[in-house]
Amino acid sequence: MKLQAAKNHSRFARVKGTHDTLPEAHAQWARIAAVAKQVLERAGAVQLTPPIFEYSEVFTKSVGESADLVVQKEMYTFFDAGARSLTLRPEFTAGVLRAFIEHGLYVWPSPIKLWSIGPVFRAEKPQRGRFRQFHQVNCELLGLDAPLLDAEAITLLYQIFSELGLRGLVVKLGSVGDPEDRQAYNHYLREALTPLADRLSEASRERLRLNPMRVLDSKSAEDQAVVASLKRPLDFLGEAAKVHFAQVQAYLSDWQLPFELEPNMVRGLDYYRRTAFEFHHGAIGAQSALCGGGRYDGLVEQLGGPPTPGVGWAFGLERLLDALQQEGALPTGSVRPLLYLIPMDEEAVGEVAKAAFTLRRHGVVLHAYAPRNPGKGLKEADRAGAVLAALRGSRERAHGSYQIKELASGAQFEVPEGELAAFLRGHQARDHEANTLLR
Ligand code: HAM
Repeated sequence: MKLQAAKNHSRFARVKGTHDTLPEAHAQWARIAAVAKQVLERAGAVQLTPPIFEYSEVFTKSVGESADLVVQKEMYTFFDAGARSLTLRPEFTAGVLRAFIEHGLYVWPSPIKLWSIGPVFRAEKPQRGRFRQFHQVNCELLGLDAPLLDAEAITLLYQIFSELGLRGLVVKLGSVGDPEDRQAYNHYLREALTPLADRLSEASRERLRLNPMRVLDSKSAEDQAVVASLKRPLDFLGEAAKVHFAQVQAYLSDWQLPFELEPNMVRGLDYYRRTAFEFHHGAIGAQSALCGGGRYDGLVEQLGGPPTPGVGWAFGLERLLDALQQEGALPTGSVRPLLYLIPMDEEAVGEVAKAAFTLRRHGVVLHAYAPRNPGKGLKEADRAGAVLAALRGSRERAHGSYQIKELASGAQFEVPEGELAAFLRGHQARDHEANTLLR
């Protein structure tokens, strides 16, 4: 139900880059979360929620020294009373893997699939699609280095978006190679770009110093002009990474999952090895990546766990909602009240409230909080979007009944108090049957 709102009179504003999730958006989120949960759990994933903050090291050790999160100081880090450095999670992967190791989940049969949902925090410059507090659905698939797992991870993500009715997706697939391939490519880039450094933007000159591959990721036209003539990361893949990448593509082609090769794929986090992917949508502005992910073999060891390969992804709920809205495919998700109870005298006020408590096991049941005349009460029921209204006054009390009105058809029924629950159940069943026949 969309309610009117008054003009803003608040003395305080929310922090820039954060959002209040209003009731309408919550219903849409719930639908997305339900679809994600269903697709992932039917594939054997289980839910794991790490804390919202961790010791800062958990993140600095995993995302890498040259990640924007570190270089551009995008993490919300603070000291607690014991002078320990803590950080609000800027992503899920590090915390999920820390928990995976801490609880010894690596003894579970492989592959282990862990999914999460919740807020994440990055001190970025806010703009459309880029916030300081946003929300991710995240999934990690652990324990196998087979290309099949990469292809499954991508397919699960694709299934979630398809199930939600999103059409304008572009799946971009690349490979950042094994660490030695990346090293060779970074070496090549340094050699090739250093003489051209004065043609690069200031940010890219800094990237050239710390992690030359990130120059490819630059959105500036001057940088892209320089980059256009260079060799691509895919040209530097070693034999093992090349075979792995070819197999991932073979599975996806075989399963008819449409994708584009992105020879310049670079991810903003340093832990990726081999497969890297992003899903983009053309209608949501410059921040067009709905999700990102890839393989990160070696990361579990880096965090102190036993050798455990893995691949994972995360999508941003806000960007997904923006994309669904642009396509006119926003889920509605709000639940219609089944029944609105109308007390017609003082005595009925408590009676209808009591009836509501017990009837709520059948659906949403609302009631008026003071006596109403039938006209006003029925108008309220209609405005609440209720399917049925039930009137209760002295006449109904004398008969031990409720007068029920079906708001769409105007049909009326006198229902004994003791049979209200059965009436609601019967009505729901008829409604369901009618909906099934219409389909
Ligand atoms: P990421 O690419 O940094 O990957 O973020 C994933 C998604 O989160 C993005 O594609 C975007 O939809 C959303 N997102 C990122 N930053 C913002 C922002 N400032 N405002 C709104 N939405 C944003 C990761 O986070 C990896 N941990 C994914 C992963 C999991 N890789 C392996 N496992």
